[in-house]
Amino acid sequence: MSEFRVKAISKLHAEFSVPGDKSMSHRAAILGGLSNGICTIRNFLPSEDCVNTLNAMQALGARHEVIDELTGYGPINLRIHGQSMKLSAPAAPIDCGNAGTGMRLLAGLLAGQEFSSELFGDASLSSRPMGRVTVPLAEMGAKIETRGEKPGCAPLFIHAATLTPITYHLPVASAQVKSAVLLAGMFAKGKTTVIQPAETRDHTEKMLASFRVSTRRDGNAISIFGNQMPESCDFTVPGDISSAAFWLVAAAALPGSRLLIKDVGLNPTRTAILKVLSRMGAHMTEILHNSEGEPIGNIEIHGAALTGTTILIEEVPNLIDEIPVIAVAAALAKGRTVIRNAKELRVKETDRITTVVDGLRAMGADVLEFEDGMEIEGGKPLHGAEIDSFGDHRIAMAFAIAGLFADGETVIKNTDCVNTSYPGFAHHLAAIRNHRSRPADFTLPTTPIA
Ligand code: S3P
Repeated sequence: MSEFRVKAISKLHAEFSVPGDKSMSHRAAILGGLSNGICTIRNFLPSEDCVNTLNAMQALGARHEVIDELTGYGPINLRIHGQSMKLSAPAAPIDCGNAGTGMRLLAGLLAGQEFSSELFGDASLSSRPMGRVTVPLAEMGAKIETRGEKPGCAPLFIHAATLTPITYHLPVASAQVKSAVLLAGMFAKGKTTVIQPAETRDHTEKMLASFRVSTRRDGNAISIFGNQMPESCDFTVPGDISSAAFWLVAAAALPGSRLLIKDVGLNPTRTAILKVLSRMGAHMTEILHNSEGEPIGNIEIHGAALTGTTILIEEVPNLIDEIPVIAVAAALAKGRTVIRNAKELRVKETDRITTVVDGLRAMGADVLEFEDGMEIEGGKPLHGAEIDSFGDHRIAMAFAIAGLFADGETVIKNTDCVNTSYPGFAHHLAAIRNHRSRPADFTLPTTPIA
C-alpha cells in the first residue's frame, strides 16, 4: 500500500495543467456511446473511475480505441463508437469501482433498456445510498433491486423495463441524481422534468447540448424529451477544477507564491472555490479562453495571509468536493471558518466530516464537528502526523497539502486511491516539493499508442 511523505515548503512558483474533469469524462463516455457515430474525446481523465465507465459502455456495445494514454493508467485521447441509442446486454456484471457518479449515471442509463444488468462497486461504493436514484427511476417504471448488505445499497440489479416520464423534485441537491433521471428520460416517451432545490453542476445539460440533444431550463426545472438521437461530436475535456483546488489552496496559503493553472474548467457551477479563496484573501485572476459550451481558461493565484470565512448555504453544492481542502485552507487561515449545511459530506467516499475533522485535529488544528459540517479556528501551527486516507482520494490529497505547511513530516497512508480522480498527483506533489517550476517537471508521461 503506497503512502505520501510530505514536509513543509517555503516557496511555490509553478505553471501546469491538471488532468481532465472527472464529471465530464464520465458523461463523455456515456453520451459518446449513445451517439450516432464516432466521437473523438480529448483530455479524457484516465482515472480508475472514468475508465470503469468507459469499460461499462464497451460492455454495452460502445467500443473505444485509444489514441494516446497516460502510461499505466488509461486513455487520454480516444475514439468512441456510438451505438445510436441501441445498447446491447452486457455479458457480465458491470464494475463501477469506487465511482458514485459512474454507478448513479449508469443506473439511469440502464433503467429503461430491454435487457437486465447488474452494477457493483468496491466496499466504499457498496455502502453509499443508491435509493436517491432508484426511487425516482422506480417512479418512471424501472425495476431495480438494491441487493447490498446495507439496505438501499449496491449491487444494483436492473431488470428490463419500459419507462414513462415524470416530474421529479430532487430531495437533495445532487447532479448525479439529476443526471440519472435525465439519462433515463432519454429512453422515455415524452417530457421528463427534474426540479433541483439548488443549483448543481450542469455538465449533463451542457454536454447533451454538444450532442444536439435539447433540454429546457425553466428556473431550477430541467426538462428533456425522450427519443432524441445524440449526434456524434468531438469533445475536449477541460482540466478538473476539483483537482486544481489542491494546488490553489497550497498557493493561496503561502504568501509570495505564484501559481498558474492552465486550461481548467471554469463552469460557474464549479467555481465557488475561487470565490471562497478570494474572500479568504488570495489574489486571483481568471482568464477565459472559451466560453462556449464548457468554459475553459487559466487561473493565476498569488498567496497571502488568509483569513477565515463562512461558506454560504448556496455555495455548498458548488464546492462540495473541495470542502476537505478548503478545511485545510481554513486551518491555515487566521480566524474562524464555518462550514455548515454540508451533511452530504457524510455519504461521500468516506464520511468526509469525520475524516477531515480527525485528520486536522491529529495535526494540531482547532476544529469543532457538527452533524452538517465543522467550524475551524485557524492559525494554530500544524505539525506532522500520520493520516489514513481510508481509501478516499480527496482526503489523501487534502492532507498532502496540509503536510506542505506542517512542522516535521506528515505521512499519508493508503494513497493508491488518488488514482480514482488524479492520476499523476504524486508526480505533481514531488515537483512542487522539490521547488521545481519548469513546465517539463509537471508533464505527465504519455505514450502515443495509435
Ligand atoms: C458529481 C456530483 C457530485 C460530486 C461528485 C461528482 C457529478 O455528487 O460530489 O464528485 O459528476 O455529477 P452529488 O451529485 O452526490 O452531489
